[in-house]
Amino acid sequence: MTGDRLIVPGDKSIAHRAVWCAALARGESLLRGVPESDDVAATCGVVQALGVRMVRVGTEVRIEGCGGAWPIQVVSLDIGASGTTLRLLCGLLAAAQGTYHLRVAAQLGRRPIEHVLGLLRAMGAEVESVGWGTADAQLRIRGRQLHGVRCALPVASAQLKCAFLLAALQADSASWCAEPVLTRDHLERMLPQFGAKLSHVRCPTCCNAAAADWLHVVPGPLRAAAINIPGDLSAAAPWIAMALVLRQRPLTIAKVGLNPTRLGMVRILQRMGARIELHAAHDAAAGEPYGDLTIFPSCLRGTTVLPSEVPSCIDELPLLIALAGLAQARTHFRGLTALRSKESDRLQHTVAACRAAGMALEQPDGDTLWIDGRPALRATPQQFPRTDDHRMVMLFSVLSLLADPRGPVQIPDACAVAKSYPGYWRDFQALWPDSECESF
Ligand code: S3P
Repeated sequence: MTGDRLIVPGDKSIAHRAVWCAALARGESLLRGVPESDDVAATCGVVQALGVRMVRVGTEVRIEGCGGAWPIQVVSLDIGASGTTLRLLCGLLAAAQGTYHLRVAAQLGRRPIEHVLGLLRAMGAEVESVGWGTADAQLRIRGRQLHGVRCALPVASAQLKCAFLLAALQADSASWCAEPVLTRDHLERMLPQFGAKLSHVRCPTCCNAAAADWLHVVPGPLRAAAINIPGDLSAAAPWIAMALVLRQRPLTIAKVGLNPTRLGMVRILQRMGARIELHAAHDAAAGEPYGDLTIFPSCLRGTTVLPSEVPSCIDELPLLIALAGLAQARTHFRGLTALRSKESDRLQHTVAACRAAGMALEQPDGDTLWIDGRPALRATPQQFPRTDDHRMVMLFSVLSLLADPRGPVQIPDACAVAKSYPGYWRDFQALWPDSECESF
Protein backbone atom coordinates (compact mmCIF):
# COMPACT_ATOMS: atom_id res chain seq x y z
CA MET A 1 0.00 0.00 0.00
CA THR A 2 1.35 3.41 -0.92
CA GLY A 3 -0.78 6.50 -0.29
CA ASP A 4 -4.16 5.87 -1.87
CA ARG A 5 -3.08 2.97 -4.04
CA LEU A 6 -3.25 -0.64 -2.99
CA ILE A 7 -2.25 -3.96 -4.57
CA VAL A 8 -4.12 -7.02 -3.31
CA PRO A 9 -2.80 -10.60 -3.37
CA GLY A 10 -3.11 -12.75 -6.50
CA ASP A 11 -6.48 -14.24 -7.31
CA LYS A 12 -7.10 -17.36 -5.24
CA SER A 13 -9.46 -19.00 -7.76
CA ILE A 14 -7.08 -18.48 -10.67
CA ALA A 15 -4.11 -19.67 -8.59
CA HIS A 16 -5.80 -22.99 -7.66
CA ARG A 17 -6.62 -23.63 -11.30
CA ALA A 18 -3.14 -22.68 -12.51
CA VAL A 19 -1.46 -25.00 -9.99
CA TRP A 20 -3.69 -27.94 -10.94
CA CYS A 21 -3.24 -27.40 -14.69
CA ALA A 22 0.54 -27.03 -14.30
CA ALA A 23 0.68 -30.23 -12.23
CA LEU A 24 -1.30 -32.16 -14.85
CA ALA A 25 0.64 -30.76 -17.82
CA ARG A 26 3.89 -32.10 -19.26
CA GLY A 27 6.96 -29.87 -18.71
CA GLU A 28 7.82 -26.92 -16.49
CA SER A 29 5.22 -24.22 -15.96
CA LEU A 30 5.92 -20.85 -14.40
CA LEU A 31 3.16 -19.17 -12.38
CA ARG A 32 3.60 -15.55 -11.27
CA GLY A 33 1.50 -13.82 -8.63
CA VAL A 34 0.53 -16.94 -6.66
CA PRO A 35 -0.91 -15.74 -3.32
CA GLU A 36 0.64 -17.02 -0.10
CA SER A 37 -2.74 -17.88 1.37
CA ASP A 38 -3.66 -21.02 3.34
CA ASP A 39 -6.08 -22.26 0.67
CA VAL A 40 -3.58 -22.10 -2.17
CA ALA A 41 -0.92 -23.58 0.12
CA ALA A 42 -3.31 -26.54 0.61
CA THR A 43 -3.43 -27.13 -3.16
CA CYS A 44 0.36 -26.81 -3.44
CA GLY A 45 0.79 -29.26 -0.54
CA VAL A 46 -1.44 -31.86 -2.21
CA VAL A 47 0.36 -31.48 -5.54
CA GLN A 48 3.66 -32.18 -3.76
CA ALA A 49 2.17 -35.09 -1.83
CA LEU A 50 1.27 -36.60 -5.21
CA GLY A 51 4.97 -36.51 -6.08
CA VAL A 52 5.02 -33.47 -8.36
CA ARG A 53 8.10 -31.22 -8.12
CA MET A 54 7.41 -27.61 -7.22
CA VAL A 55 9.70 -24.72 -6.29
CA ARG A 56 8.30 -21.56 -4.78
CA VAL A 57 10.19 -18.27 -4.49
CA GLY A 58 7.91 -15.59 -3.09
CA THR A 59 4.89 -15.40 -5.37
CA GLU A 60 6.60 -17.26 -8.24
CA VAL A 61 6.01 -20.98 -8.50
CA ARG A 62 7.67 -23.40 -10.92
CA ILE A 63 5.99 -26.76 -11.38
CA GLU A 64 7.38 -29.75 -13.25
CA GLY A 65 4.10 -31.33 -14.34
CA CYS A 66 3.48 -35.08 -14.36
CA GLY A 67 1.85 -35.26 -17.80
CA GLY A 68 -1.13 -37.07 -16.28
CA ALA A 69 0.90 -39.87 -14.62
CA TRP A 70 0.95 -38.91 -10.92
CA PRO A 71 4.25 -40.22 -9.48
CA ILE A 72 2.57 -41.42 -6.25
CA GLN A 73 -0.41 -43.66 -6.81
CA VAL A 74 -1.55 -44.89 -3.43
CA VAL A 75 -1.74 -42.13 -0.95
CA SER A 76 -3.73 -40.65 1.86
CA LEU A 77 -4.03 -36.90 1.34
CA ASP A 78 -4.80 -34.22 3.88
CA ILE A 79 -6.91 -31.60 2.16
CA GLY A 80 -7.54 -29.32 5.13
CA ALA A 81 -10.39 -26.82 4.78
CA SER A 82 -10.06 -25.70 1.17
CA GLY A 83 -13.22 -26.44 -0.84
CA THR A 84 -11.64 -25.47 -4.17
CA THR A 85 -8.69 -27.81 -3.52
CA LEU A 86 -11.02 -30.71 -2.79
CA ARG A 87 -13.56 -30.31 -5.57
CA LEU A 88 -11.04 -29.75 -8.36
CA LEU A 89 -8.88 -32.59 -7.07
CA CYS A 90 -11.83 -34.99 -7.32
CA GLY A 91 -12.06 -34.22 -11.05
CA LEU A 92 -8.34 -34.76 -11.50
CA LEU A 93 -7.95 -37.98 -9.54
CA ALA A 94 -11.13 -39.64 -10.83
CA ALA A 95 -9.16 -40.47 -14.00
CA ALA A 96 -5.75 -41.11 -12.39
CA GLN A 97 -4.07 -44.49 -12.11
CA GLY A 98 -4.23 -45.00 -8.38
CA THR A 99 -6.21 -45.13 -5.18
CA TYR A 100 -6.57 -42.06 -3.03
CA HIS A 101 -7.98 -41.34 0.43
CA LEU A 102 -8.79 -37.70 0.96
CA ARG A 103 -9.16 -36.52 4.56
CA VAL A 104 -10.81 -33.16 5.10
CA ALA A 105 -11.17 -30.73 8.02
CA ALA A 106 -14.48 -30.95 9.90
CA GLN A 107 -15.61 -27.58 8.48
CA LEU A 108 -15.15 -28.80 4.89
CA GLY A 109 -16.70 -32.20 5.67
CA ARG A 110 -20.00 -30.43 6.38
CA ARG A 111 -20.12 -28.72 2.97
CA PRO A 112 -21.85 -30.29 -0.05
CA ILE A 113 -19.89 -32.72 -2.23
CA GLU A 114 -22.64 -34.93 -3.68
CA HIS A 115 -23.10 -32.91 -6.89
CA VAL A 116 -19.41 -33.36 -7.69
CA LEU A 117 -19.44 -37.08 -6.92
CA GLY A 118 -22.68 -37.67 -8.85
CA LEU A 119 -21.31 -35.94 -11.94
CA LEU A 120 -18.06 -37.90 -11.84
CA ARG A 121 -19.93 -41.17 -11.35
CA ALA A 122 -21.95 -40.38 -14.49
CA MET A 123 -18.57 -40.36 -16.30
CA GLY A 124 -17.67 -43.76 -14.86
CA ALA A 125 -15.71 -42.66 -11.78
CA GLU A 126 -15.38 -44.75 -8.65
CA VAL A 127 -15.74 -42.17 -5.89
CA GLU A 128 -17.39 -42.44 -2.51
CA SER A 129 -17.76 -40.30 0.57
CA VAL A 130 -17.39 -41.86 4.01
CA GLY A 131 -18.71 -40.24 7.17
CA TRP A 132 -19.59 -37.04 5.31
CA GLY A 133 -21.00 -34.49 7.74
CA THR A 134 -18.99 -35.92 10.67
CA ALA A 135 -15.57 -34.97 12.03
CA ASP A 136 -14.07 -37.99 10.19
CA ALA A 137 -15.29 -37.09 6.70
CA GLN A 138 -13.28 -38.75 3.91
CA LEU A 139 -13.46 -39.35 0.19
CA ARG A 140 -12.18 -42.48 -1.49
CA ILE A 141 -11.26 -42.33 -5.15
CA ARG A 142 -10.11 -45.25 -7.27
CA GLY A 143 -8.98 -43.91 -10.64
CA ARG A 144 -10.84 -45.22 -13.72
CA GLN A 145 -11.01 -44.62 -17.44
CA LEU A 146 -13.72 -41.96 -17.68
CA HIS A 147 -16.20 -41.55 -20.53
CA GLY A 148 -17.29 -38.38 -22.25
CA VAL A 149 -20.80 -37.20 -21.36
CA ARG A 150 -23.24 -34.42 -22.11
CA CYS A 151 -24.39 -32.89 -18.89
CA ALA A 152 -26.56 -29.96 -17.74
CA LEU A 153 -24.96 -28.98 -14.43
CA PRO A 154 -27.59 -29.12 -11.65
CA VAL A 155 -26.42 -26.00 -9.79
CA ALA A 156 -24.47 -22.85 -10.62
CA SER A 157 -21.10 -23.68 -9.06
CA ALA A 158 -17.73 -22.87 -10.60
CA GLN A 159 -16.09 -25.59 -8.53
CA LEU A 160 -18.51 -28.20 -9.87
CA LYS A 161 -17.87 -27.03 -13.44
CA CYS A 162 -14.10 -27.21 -12.91
CA ALA A 163 -14.23 -30.73 -11.46
CA PHE A 164 -16.17 -31.71 -14.57
CA LEU A 165 -13.76 -30.00 -17.00
CA LEU A 166 -10.66 -31.54 -15.41
CA ALA A 167 -12.24 -35.00 -15.57
CA ALA A 168 -13.51 -34.42 -19.14
CA LEU A 169 -9.97 -33.60 -20.32
CA GLN A 170 -8.96 -37.12 -19.32
CA ALA A 171 -12.00 -39.00 -20.69
CA ASP A 172 -12.06 -41.32 -23.72
CA SER A 173 -14.29 -39.05 -25.82
CA ALA A 174 -15.56 -35.48 -25.97
CA SER A 175 -17.86 -33.99 -23.30
CA TRP A 176 -20.30 -31.11 -23.16
CA CYS A 177 -21.66 -29.21 -20.20
CA ALA A 178 -24.11 -26.35 -19.74
CA GLU A 179 -24.55 -24.18 -16.65
CA PRO A 180 -27.87 -22.87 -15.28
CA VAL A 181 -26.12 -19.49 -14.84
CA LEU A 182 -22.61 -18.63 -16.03
CA THR A 183 -20.11 -18.90 -13.15
CA ARG A 184 -16.50 -17.68 -13.04
CA ASP A 185 -14.80 -18.86 -16.23
CA HIS A 186 -11.13 -18.75 -15.22
CA LEU A 187 -10.47 -22.38 -16.13
CA GLU A 188 -12.05 -22.03 -19.57
CA ARG A 189 -9.84 -19.00 -20.21
CA MET A 190 -6.72 -20.73 -18.90
CA LEU A 191 -6.97 -24.21 -20.41
CA PRO A 192 -6.23 -23.13 -24.01
CA GLN A 193 -2.93 -21.66 -22.68
CA PHE A 194 -2.09 -25.22 -21.62
CA GLY A 195 -3.00 -26.50 -25.09
CA ALA A 196 -6.49 -27.84 -24.33
CA LYS A 197 -9.26 -27.71 -26.93
CA LEU A 198 -12.38 -26.04 -25.55
CA SER A 199 -15.14 -24.28 -27.41
CA HIS A 200 -18.60 -22.85 -26.84
CA VAL A 201 -21.24 -24.48 -29.04
CA ARG A 202 -24.97 -24.20 -29.47
CA CYS A 203 -26.68 -27.48 -28.71
CA PRO A 204 -28.81 -28.40 -31.75
CA THR A 205 -31.23 -30.49 -29.67
CA CYS A 206 -31.60 -28.07 -26.78
CA CYS A 207 -34.78 -26.05 -26.51
CA ASN A 208 -33.90 -24.50 -23.14
CA ALA A 209 -32.52 -21.02 -23.88
CA ALA A 210 -30.65 -20.82 -20.56
CA ALA A 211 -28.77 -24.01 -21.32
CA ALA A 212 -28.30 -23.37 -25.05
CA ASP A 213 -24.64 -22.43 -24.67
CA TRP A 214 -22.66 -25.63 -24.19
CA LEU A 215 -19.01 -25.93 -23.37
CA HIS A 216 -17.37 -28.59 -25.52
CA VAL A 217 -14.21 -30.29 -24.22
CA VAL A 218 -11.96 -32.48 -26.33
CA PRO A 219 -9.79 -34.78 -24.19
CA GLY A 220 -6.05 -34.47 -24.60
CA PRO A 221 -2.78 -33.90 -22.75
CA LEU A 222 -1.82 -30.47 -21.41
CA ARG A 223 1.52 -28.81 -22.10
CA ALA A 224 3.36 -26.43 -19.75
CA ALA A 225 2.48 -22.73 -19.76
CA ALA A 226 3.44 -19.40 -18.19
CA ILE A 227 0.58 -17.81 -16.28
CA ASN A 228 0.43 -14.34 -14.69
CA ILE A 229 -2.18 -14.13 -11.96
CA PRO A 230 -3.89 -10.74 -11.44
CA GLY A 231 -5.02 -9.38 -8.06
CA ASP A 232 -8.05 -10.93 -6.40
CA LEU A 233 -11.23 -8.88 -6.69
CA SER A 234 -12.68 -10.75 -3.71
CA ALA A 235 -9.70 -9.60 -1.61
CA ALA A 236 -10.32 -6.05 -2.85
CA ALA A 237 -14.00 -6.17 -1.83
CA PRO A 238 -13.62 -4.95 1.80
CA TRP A 239 -11.48 -2.01 0.60
CA ILE A 240 -14.11 -1.17 -2.03
CA ALA A 241 -16.77 -1.11 0.70
CA MET A 242 -14.64 1.05 3.00
CA ALA A 243 -13.62 3.43 0.20
CA LEU A 244 -17.27 4.05 -0.71
CA VAL A 245 -18.72 4.80 2.70
CA LEU A 246 -15.89 5.45 5.15
CA ARG A 247 -13.08 7.30 3.43
CA GLN A 248 -12.98 10.94 2.34
CA ARG A 249 -10.59 10.37 -0.57
CA PRO A 250 -10.62 8.03 -3.60
CA LEU A 251 -8.75 4.75 -3.40
CA THR A 252 -7.17 2.91 -6.33
CA ILE A 253 -6.77 -0.84 -6.31
CA ALA A 254 -4.14 -1.63 -8.91
CA LYS A 255 -3.65 -4.63 -11.20
CA VAL A 256 -6.77 -6.41 -10.04
CA GLY A 257 -8.65 -9.06 -12.05
CA LEU A 258 -11.58 -7.60 -13.99
CA ASN A 259 -13.04 -10.81 -15.38
CA PRO A 260 -16.74 -10.05 -16.14
CA THR A 261 -17.83 -13.25 -14.34
CA ARG A 262 -16.40 -11.78 -11.11
CA LEU A 263 -17.57 -8.17 -11.44
CA GLY A 264 -21.05 -8.56 -9.92
CA MET A 265 -20.23 -6.45 -6.86
CA VAL A 266 -18.87 -3.59 -8.97
CA ARG A 267 -21.84 -3.65 -11.38
CA ILE A 268 -24.41 -3.78 -8.58
CA LEU A 269 -22.72 -0.96 -6.65
CA GLN A 270 -22.55 1.20 -9.79
CA ARG A 271 -26.29 0.59 -10.21
CA MET A 272 -26.71 1.74 -6.61
CA GLY A 273 -24.99 5.03 -7.48
CA ALA A 274 -21.39 4.20 -6.55
CA ARG A 275 -18.67 5.94 -8.51
CA ILE A 276 -16.21 3.20 -9.38
CA GLU A 277 -13.97 3.66 -12.41
CA LEU A 278 -12.37 0.75 -14.24
CA HIS A 279 -9.18 1.24 -16.22
CA ALA A 280 -8.67 -2.05 -17.96
CA ALA A 281 -5.45 -3.45 -19.38
CA HIS A 282 -5.21 -6.91 -20.87
CA ASP A 283 -2.93 -9.82 -20.15
CA ALA A 284 -2.82 -12.20 -23.05
CA ALA A 285 -0.74 -14.78 -21.13
CA ALA A 286 -3.38 -15.52 -18.55
CA GLY A 287 -6.35 -14.87 -20.82
CA GLU A 288 -7.69 -12.70 -18.01
CA PRO A 289 -8.61 -9.02 -18.18
CA TYR A 290 -7.14 -6.94 -15.37
CA GLY A 291 -6.58 -3.28 -14.56
CA ASP A 292 -7.05 -0.57 -11.95
CA LEU A 293 -10.22 0.19 -10.01
CA THR A 294 -10.71 3.66 -8.53
CA ILE A 295 -13.38 3.99 -5.88
CA PHE A 296 -14.78 7.37 -4.88
CA PRO A 297 -16.77 8.16 -1.72
CA SER A 298 -20.40 7.76 -2.83
CA CYS A 299 -24.03 7.87 -1.73
CA LEU A 300 -25.86 4.64 -2.44
CA ARG A 301 -29.49 3.92 -3.29
CA GLY A 302 -31.44 0.64 -3.08
CA THR A 303 -31.66 -1.92 -5.87
CA THR A 304 -32.75 -5.49 -6.56
CA VAL A 305 -30.10 -8.19 -6.76
CA LEU A 306 -31.33 -11.10 -8.90
CA PRO A 307 -30.47 -14.81 -8.58
CA SER A 308 -28.77 -14.60 -11.99
CA GLU A 309 -26.29 -12.06 -10.53
CA VAL A 310 -25.38 -14.12 -7.47
CA PRO A 311 -22.58 -16.26 -8.96
CA SER A 312 -20.74 -13.13 -10.10
CA CYS A 313 -20.60 -11.77 -6.53
CA ILE A 314 -21.04 -14.91 -4.41
CA ASP A 315 -18.13 -14.15 -2.07
CA GLU A 316 -18.88 -10.42 -1.93
CA LEU A 317 -22.56 -10.74 -0.99
CA PRO A 318 -22.06 -10.27 2.77
CA LEU A 319 -20.36 -6.92 2.11
CA LEU A 320 -23.03 -5.93 -0.42
CA ILE A 321 -25.72 -6.66 2.16
CA ALA A 322 -23.95 -4.47 4.72
CA LEU A 323 -23.59 -1.66 2.16
CA ALA A 324 -27.30 -1.92 1.34
CA GLY A 325 -27.90 -1.12 5.01
CA LEU A 326 -26.41 2.32 4.30
CA ALA A 327 -28.27 2.95 1.03
CA GLN A 328 -31.25 5.21 0.48
CA ALA A 329 -34.45 3.05 0.36
CA ARG A 330 -34.90 -0.69 0.14
CA THR A 331 -32.63 -3.32 -1.44
CA HIS A 332 -33.92 -6.80 -2.28
CA PHE A 333 -31.60 -9.77 -2.52
CA ARG A 334 -32.85 -12.98 -4.12
CA GLY A 335 -31.13 -16.31 -4.71
CA LEU A 336 -29.04 -16.37 -1.53
CA THR A 337 -29.29 -20.10 -0.68
CA ALA A 338 -25.73 -20.83 -1.86
CA LEU A 339 -24.41 -18.53 0.89
CA ARG A 340 -25.49 -21.03 3.50
CA SER A 341 -22.98 -23.70 2.53
CA LYS A 342 -19.77 -21.70 2.38
CA GLU A 343 -17.08 -21.87 5.10
CA SER A 344 -19.93 -20.99 7.46
CA ASP A 345 -23.62 -20.20 7.06
CA ARG A 346 -22.78 -16.75 5.71
CA LEU A 347 -26.40 -15.73 5.38
CA GLN A 348 -27.09 -16.35 9.06
CA HIS A 349 -23.89 -14.64 10.19
CA THR A 350 -24.36 -11.63 7.92
CA VAL A 351 -27.96 -11.10 9.00
CA ALA A 352 -27.03 -11.41 12.69
CA ALA A 353 -24.03 -9.07 12.43
CA CYS A 354 -25.87 -6.41 10.36
CA ARG A 355 -28.85 -6.51 12.72
CA ALA A 356 -26.56 -6.14 15.71
CA ALA A 357 -25.00 -3.11 13.98
CA GLY A 358 -28.48 -1.52 13.87
CA MET A 359 -29.52 -2.33 10.29
CA ALA A 360 -33.13 -3.25 9.44
CA LEU A 361 -33.15 -6.58 7.61
CA GLU A 362 -36.09 -8.87 6.86
CA GLN A 363 -35.59 -12.47 5.88
CA PRO A 364 -38.88 -13.99 4.70
CA ASP A 365 -37.20 -17.28 3.73
CA GLY A 366 -33.76 -18.88 3.38
CA ASP A 367 -33.30 -17.48 -0.12
CA THR A 368 -34.50 -13.88 0.08
CA LEU A 369 -33.62 -10.81 2.08
CA TRP A 370 -34.52 -7.16 2.04
CA ILE A 371 -32.99 -4.33 3.87
CA ASP A 372 -34.29 -0.81 4.45
CA GLY A 373 -31.17 1.26 4.26
CA ARG A 374 -30.35 4.33 6.35
CA PRO A 375 -27.63 6.48 4.76
CA ALA A 376 -26.85 8.27 8.03
CA LEU A 377 -26.66 5.10 10.10
CA ARG A 378 -23.97 5.14 12.76
CA ALA A 379 -23.57 1.42 13.43
CA THR A 380 -23.70 0.24 17.01
CA PRO A 381 -20.55 -1.43 18.36
CA GLN A 382 -21.15 -5.14 18.52
CA GLN A 383 -19.85 -8.46 19.70
CA PHE A 384 -19.06 -10.60 16.68
CA PRO A 385 -19.69 -14.35 16.59
CA ARG A 386 -16.64 -16.60 16.83
CA THR A 387 -16.13 -18.01 13.32
CA ASP A 388 -13.07 -19.08 11.38
CA ASP A 389 -14.70 -17.96 8.12
CA HIS A 390 -12.29 -15.47 6.48
CA ARG A 391 -14.98 -13.58 4.59
CA MET A 392 -17.01 -13.10 7.77
CA VAL A 393 -13.99 -11.71 9.61
CA MET A 394 -13.52 -9.20 6.77
CA LEU A 395 -17.20 -8.21 6.97
CA PHE A 396 -16.87 -7.74 10.73
CA SER A 397 -13.88 -5.45 10.21
CA VAL A 398 -16.01 -3.18 7.97
CA LEU A 399 -18.94 -3.19 10.43
CA SER A 400 -16.57 -2.43 13.24
CA LEU A 401 -15.23 0.68 11.44
CA LEU A 402 -18.80 1.78 10.69
CA ALA A 403 -19.41 1.78 14.44
CA ASP A 404 -16.14 3.53 15.29
CA PRO A 405 -13.75 4.63 12.51
CA ARG A 406 -10.98 5.12 15.09
CA GLY A 407 -11.12 1.56 16.40
CA PRO A 408 -10.09 -0.50 18.27
CA VAL A 409 -11.33 -3.37 16.08
CA GLN A 410 -12.04 -6.40 18.28
CA ILE A 411 -12.73 -9.56 16.32
CA PRO A 412 -12.45 -13.16 17.48
CA ASP A 413 -10.35 -15.35 15.18
CA ALA A 414 -9.08 -12.33 13.24
CA CYS A 415 -6.24 -14.47 11.83
CA ALA A 416 -8.80 -16.51 9.82
CA VAL A 417 -8.18 -13.99 7.00
CA ALA A 418 -5.02 -16.00 6.17
CA LYS A 419 -7.21 -18.46 4.26
CA SER A 420 -7.25 -15.97 1.36
CA TYR A 421 -5.36 -12.82 2.45
CA PRO A 422 -2.54 -13.24 5.00
CA GLY A 423 -1.58 -9.53 4.77
CA TYR A 424 -5.12 -8.30 5.40
CA TRP A 425 -4.48 -6.64 8.76
CA ARG A 426 -1.28 -5.01 7.52
CA ASP A 427 -3.24 -3.39 4.65
CA PHE A 428 -6.12 -2.57 7.00
CA GLN A 429 -3.74 -0.73 9.29
CA ALA A 430 -2.21 1.13 6.33
CA LEU A 431 -5.68 2.32 5.28
CA TRP A 432 -6.84 3.05 8.84
CA PRO A 433 -3.71 4.08 10.75
CA ASP A 434 -5.86 5.27 13.70
CA SER A 435 -7.44 1.89 14.31
CA GLU A 436 -5.92 -1.13 15.94
CA CYS A 437 -7.04 -4.72 15.55
CA GLU A 438 -7.29 -6.94 18.60
CA SER A 439 -7.94 -10.62 18.09
CA PHE A 440 -8.98 -12.88 20.94
C1 S3P B 1 -14.82 -20.67 -6.17
C2 S3P B 1 -16.14 -20.73 -6.47
C3 S3P B 1 -17.19 -20.31 -5.53
C4 S3P B 1 -16.63 -19.42 -4.44
C5 S3P B 1 -15.35 -19.94 -3.85
C6 S3P B 1 -14.30 -20.10 -4.93
C7 S3P B 1 -13.86 -21.17 -7.18
O1 S3P B 1 -17.75 -21.48 -4.94
O2 S3P B 1 -17.58 -19.23 -3.42
O3 S3P B 1 -14.85 -19.05 -2.87
O4 S3P B 1 -12.65 -20.91 -7.07
O5 S3P B 1 -14.31 -21.82 -8.12
P1 S3P B 1 -18.92 -22.33 -5.68
O6 S3P B 1 -18.37 -22.82 -6.94
O7 S3P B 1 -19.23 -23.45 -4.73
O8 S3P B 1 -20.05 -21.36 -5.82
